[in-house]
Amino acid sequence: MTDAGTLREDRPLDALEHPSAPDLLAKFDPLIAERQALLDTGVRDPFAIVMEKVLSPTEAIIGGKHTILLGTYNYMGMTFDPDVVAAGKRALDEFGAGTTGSRVLNGTYQGHRECEDALKDFYGMDHAIVFSTGYQANLGMISTLAGKGDYIILDADSHASIYDGCWLGNAEIVRFRHNSVEDLDKRLGRLPKEAGKLVVLEGVYSMLGDIAPLKEMVAVAKKHGAMILCDEAHGMGFFGAHGRGVFEEAGVEDDVDFVVGTFSKSVGTVGGFCVSNHPKFEVLRLVCRPYVFTASLPPSVVATAATSIRKLMHAGDKRERLWANSRRLHQGLRDLGFTLGTKSAESAIIAVILSDQTQAVGMWQALLELGLYVNMARPPATPAGTYLLRCSLCAEHRDEQVGQIIDMFAQAGRAVGCIA
Ligand SMILES: Cc1ncc(COP(=O)(O)O)c(C=O)c1O
Repeated sequence: MTDAGTLREDRPLDALEHPSAPDLLAKFDPLIAERQALLDTGVRDPFAIVMEKVLSPTEAIIGGKHTILLGTYNYMGMTFDPDVVAAGKRALDEFGAGTTGSRVLNGTYQGHRECEDALKDFYGMDHAIVFSTGYQANLGMISTLAGKGDYIILDADSHASIYDGCWLGNAEIVRFRHNSVEDLDKRLGRLPKEAGKLVVLEGVYSMLGDIAPLKEMVAVAKKHGAMILCDEAHGMGFFGAHGRGVFEEAGVEDDVDFVVGTFSKSVGTVGGFCVSNHPKFEVLRLVCRPYVFTASLPPSVVATAATSIRKLMHAGDKRERLWANSRRLHQGLRDLGFTLGTKSAESAIIAVILSDQTQAVGMWQALLELGLYVNMARPPATPAGTYLLRCSLCAEHRDEQVGQIIDMFAQAGRAVGCIA
């Protein structure tokens, strides 16, 4: 006789502990097999690279080898800026390693306020709210703004954090064809006139590096009475006269209701934010779950972010260098015969499209062996099932590095057989 939970000697231990429990990870077996088959060919795992030492915004030691970095989002090269680093060290000494609390309880330090003030000054807006990541900023803003009975209308190629923000909330979700003003207009036109609507756009789409026709899209959204949230993760720092993003360059600053961004790209650290002129904006601090129910950023991080944001207000030279680098690389790769994600350099991201996984991984590995790191991107992160190498430029890439990068692409491309 046994009580529940008492071991019976005639039954194997495993069977008792897990009575026919399904393995919840079994659904990933095809992915595990695909990855193993790839690794069995002897290539390095593109998703398990370790930076053994980071020497500057553009150089690191990877696999014991000096490597040029062309796969970071360090667009403005702020990670090693001496003022930014010094501000972080000071805050670490004065305020300690972390806040151990939510922004609405013990987690708002002077530095969080200073960081929000820096954002308000940078964007010329009345309100700024800092989240712990850009992912959480989208999660929080989208799920809180659009509730039951409202509609979220988003570009089909939106970032995962935008999709996840939609799924966290209770609004109806409507997708329109990537960057299609016509489809946005059509889909908005089918929605009930009196319903609340939030159109979510991105300034720069991070996989192909293409920019949104924001002027036209914002006009269409306004025509249908929708509010607009624009994610400027990949536009902050170098688009527009003040580096605010594509929405500034498109001249629609007064019509975009909420701008979401991140500190993990041009700002050079980690964190996320939303800025707005909406008079009721501050109430979001009380109702936005990804703001309330998580610990705030460490003091060192908000200090580095605030210093970096203030320096980005006067970064005209860096902006010019970044654009020059981007144009030169785009032209160089096109001249070599690579298929690129855009016809011209639309942003600091240049996507090299490859035919399949074998070619993409082969090319990625050949570049790494030559001393160049780029991001490998594959479905489902990429649009239309494409495999691509994503190159992102930095204002700190020197002329000779851009020349070396083009030479390495030529060498690797010929070795792998994707160019003649
Ligand atoms: C468009 C976009 N939005 C938001 C994020 C999230 O930013 P974070 O890295 O701060 O979480 C990213 C990150 O890659 C992004 O590309």
